[in-house]
Amino acid sequence: MTNHVRIADFAANLGQTVTIKGWLYNARSSGKLLFLEIRDGSGIVQGIVSKNAVSEEVWNRAAALTQESSIIVTGMPREHPKRPGVYELDVHDLTIVQLAQDYPITPKEHGIEFLMDHRHLWLRSKRQHAILRVRHEVVRAVRDFLDNDGFILADTPILTPAACEGTTTLFELDYFDDGKAYLTQSGQLYNEATAAAFGKVYCFGPTFRAEKSKTRRHLTEFWMVEPEVAYATLEDMMVLAERFLSFIVARVLERRREELKLLERDTGKLEAVTAPFPRLPYDEAVRMLHEAHLAGRLEHDFVWGGDFGAPDETYLAQQFDRPVIVHRYPAQVKAFYMEEDPERPELALCMDVLAPEGYGEIIGGGQRMQSCDRLAHRIAEHNLPREAFEWYLDLRRYGTVPHAGFGMGIERCVAWLCGLEHVRETIPFPRMLYRLRP
Ligand code: 4AD
Ligand code: MG
Repeated sequence: MTNHVRIADFAANLGQTVTIKGWLYNARSSGKLLFLEIRDGSGIVQGIVSKNAVSEEVWNRAAALTQESSIIVTGMPREHPKRPGVYELDVHDLTIVQLAQDYPITPKEHGIEFLMDHRHLWLRSKRQHAILRVRHEVVRAVRDFLDNDGFILADTPILTPAACEGTTTLFELDYFDDGKAYLTQSGQLYNEATAAAFGKVYCFGPTFRAEKSKTRRHLTEFWMVEPEVAYATLEDMMVLAERFLSFIVARVLERRREELKLLERDTGKLEAVTAPFPRLPYDEAVRMLHEAHLAGRLEHDFVWGGDFGAPDETYLAQQFDRPVIVHRYPAQVKAFYMEEDPERPELALCMDVLAPEGYGEIIGGGQRMQSCDRLAHRIAEHNLPREAFEWYLDLRRYGTVPHAGFGMGIERCVAWLCGLEHVRETIPFPRMLYRLRP
């Protein structure tokens, strides 16, 4: 029995007989040679079967292979004669685990709906493979950054009794005889409790929004990482967010160059993403949008007091070569828990980080309301059920401190880093409006 190795480890196995276990990605023939593109999950290698070098049985099996048949192949890895760092496999033996019939995704072009319906198979394609490897790298970078910065991972619940980000986008379900429960929109409220226990915490998990928006940025289920820090202010979060994002970008550039190349990503634009990021007060952003409208560069005139739409965010982000931190939005467009600006109480101490190149808001966060009375007042103003928030008010009754945090959506971050049209390709099985399959 020869050594089973993964294609990614070929460099360490040159000139030795090895076995790989995988699937046939593609094949072509040229007379007495068969070129098999074999994938094993770690990579793709070209296997060369020479009619003169293998038994008739092996040749016939190789010639009969169909796309995505599962195969076990023995041979010798060697460096490509003309392309250093690229490896090939001289095939000696080949067994078929299963001969696949009529794999639905062929090398011809397919429409997006067809591919989405075959997402369970589409994941095997080169492009999808590259995107999901970038996603894995982003997740790893997120954890490494926070773990090395003194943060404690404190998981927050998915089934919750009340809203965090406003009541309009809740997925509701029956919770035994206790009435309704909701899928979490954000772990933030619980983060505030664990931050008071551990100082610096993060949660990282799936979050849900019953948003009826069919845009290229919205999923109904997405993954969010949320750091929360006790004794911290909005300004501290701006610094944390720019350190965090520039670390993630640098890590992906360092470790996932090949994937970015396959995705034809312009990495020059990512190289520019270093701290510090520009800070843009909401008031100033509104002025820029208004001027752009007067100059005929934006169709509608943005009025102070509203939240930005996608065209506004895109326009603002285009004025900078790296992410821009927009801060101090009007409290009326933000969630109930936002601390108010002591100098201008109509503003919230909050921020949104807008990604370059039209990818929109990837981070949202800010400073949380510190005073028990003012928070209780806000809960009433927003018509939220007071009993469900008593525990949250306790955090202000027992040792309240200035504290702040933010949330970053993994899918929007990956879409930006990979330069994708739509977030649907950034998660293995996307959930969006009108799509709950496969
Ligand atoms: O701005 P959001 O709603 O902020 C919060 O939920 C805060 N409680 C987070 C915190 O302060 N701990 O969402 C944060 C981020 C957005 O910037 C975006 O990246 C992502 O979550 N996001 C979505 N991603 C995909 N699809 C959606 N429908 C998203 N909604 C938000
Ligand atoms: Mg937001």
